[in-house]
Amino acid sequence: MPFLQGTMFRFSQMDPLADNFSQEMLRLCKADPMLALFLLRLANSGRGAKNQPVTTINDALRKVRPQRLFHLIDSASVTRIFSPSKPEYKGLWQHSIETAVFAEFSARKIEGFSVPPALAYNAGFIHDIGRFLFLEHTPQTLDDTEKVGWTTPMELPDLERMLLGLDHAELGYRAAEKWGLPNILQRMLRHHHHYGLWLDSNFPKLLRELVVIVQFADFVSVLVEKDPDWVDWKPAALREAIQHRCVHPSWEDVHLPVAEMADKLPALNRVCQERLALIGL
Ligand SMILES: [Fe+2]
Ligand SMILES: [Fe+2]
Repeated sequence: MPFLQGTMFRFSQMDPLADNFSQEMLRLCKADPMLALFLLRLANSGRGAKNQPVTTINDALRKVRPQRLFHLIDSASVTRIFSPSKPEYKGLWQHSIETAVFAEFSARKIEGFSVPPALAYNAGFIHDIGRFLFLEHTPQTLDDTEKVGWTTPMELPDLERMLLGLDHAELGYRAAEKWGLPNILQRMLRHHHHYGLWLDSNFPKLLRELVVIVQFADFVSVLVEKDPDWVDWKPAALREAIQHRCVHPSWEDVHLPVAEMADKLPALNRVCQERLALIGL
């Protein structure tokens, strides 16, 4: 996969010998889902990797080491650099960062769930890699889905299947399987638009919790993107919108942090904007 121009620019400014190099590399890996994916693939490759799956960005960077990642990207950079030309293409990075940040926040707040926040962040971050693959190989697909239009993430896979015969969840899953990503991430990718999964006890509890977290964060991100004037809404209106538009009926027994999400949304949104600025978007 190609690297984002803004990410490569940050790389050119980094000094592997600087004291804060490791923190800077972690910051960048948490800002660009394509870079995080490159890192995850590295961390989960090689002999014995299958027995020790690496599911979070922090653990992946610890295993691969920031300096090695730097040198690998440095040599890979001569191959392909990507610069998103349309707002909806850039929107994919924004949506990934938002879903990651909102998922991490939710994982900290949901009572009775045991998904580590770092896993929630990573899952939210890469949940739509199938759409990045469409962007790389058939950008027309993204144009076509936007042209037809969709208002909730629930409509998107049906639309893609209608236009292409394949949806981004299945495509992302197949790629993750080929890349050797950990099983829980593969299954999250495949099922992140299966809204009845929470009620299906045939699936492991941790996977069902992770999928609910990603789906909730995905809904909140789409609300923020489709209604940019939310920043002017009164707190009660924002709470109601999240409750109404971001909570699936099958999650009746899940204690989702709706009020806390509404209260903290401006601060979380600032974190997202900072991460987008870091990669030049
Ligand atoms: Fe999706
Ligand atoms: Fe999404």
